[in-house]
Amino acid sequence: MAVLVIHGPNLNLLGEREPEVYGRTRLADIDNELKRLGRELEMKVETFQSNSEGGIVDRIQKARGKCDVLLINPGAYTHTSVAIRDAIAAVSIPVIEVHLSNVYRREPFRHHSTIADIAHGRIMGFGAESYSLALRAARTIAGESRRRSG
Ligand code: DQA
Repeated sequence: MAVLVIHGPNLNLLGEREPEVYGRTRLADIDNELKRLGRELEMKVETFQSNSEGGIVDRIQKARGKCDVLLINPGAYTHTSVAIRDAIAAVSIPVIEVHLSNVYRREPFRHHSTIADIAHGRIMGFGAESYSLALRAARTIAGESRRRSG
């Protein structure tokens, strides 16, 4: 089972960026932990970060037919991007939307997500652990869809 993890804009600055909101864990540490957990769960984990909307759309398109579940934290594009939503809809890969912070405890403009209604589920508010929880959920989803098709 293969999982692609996509991190959106400014998440490359994790650890330094607003640590009171996002914590002190760096992106490389999150990625390493996901790869370690992936080995434990027998899932191949690939990670990708881009600050550009087009870069994220390109990476989602490239995943078509090649990954079982997509974990995505689109960062600020969560609240604005129709292009990322359309790319997700186009590839028909189950998606888990991930956020470090609980966006509902923050400014109202963060309450809207362009992908919430097409995501399989959403995990937020647990800091770096949101990603580990999402990977465990991905294991369940991938297992279910394999059982259905096989
Ligand atoms: C975020 C929440 C977004 O509102 C924000 O723009 C981010 C990070 C989170 O993980 O909590 O960049 O997606």
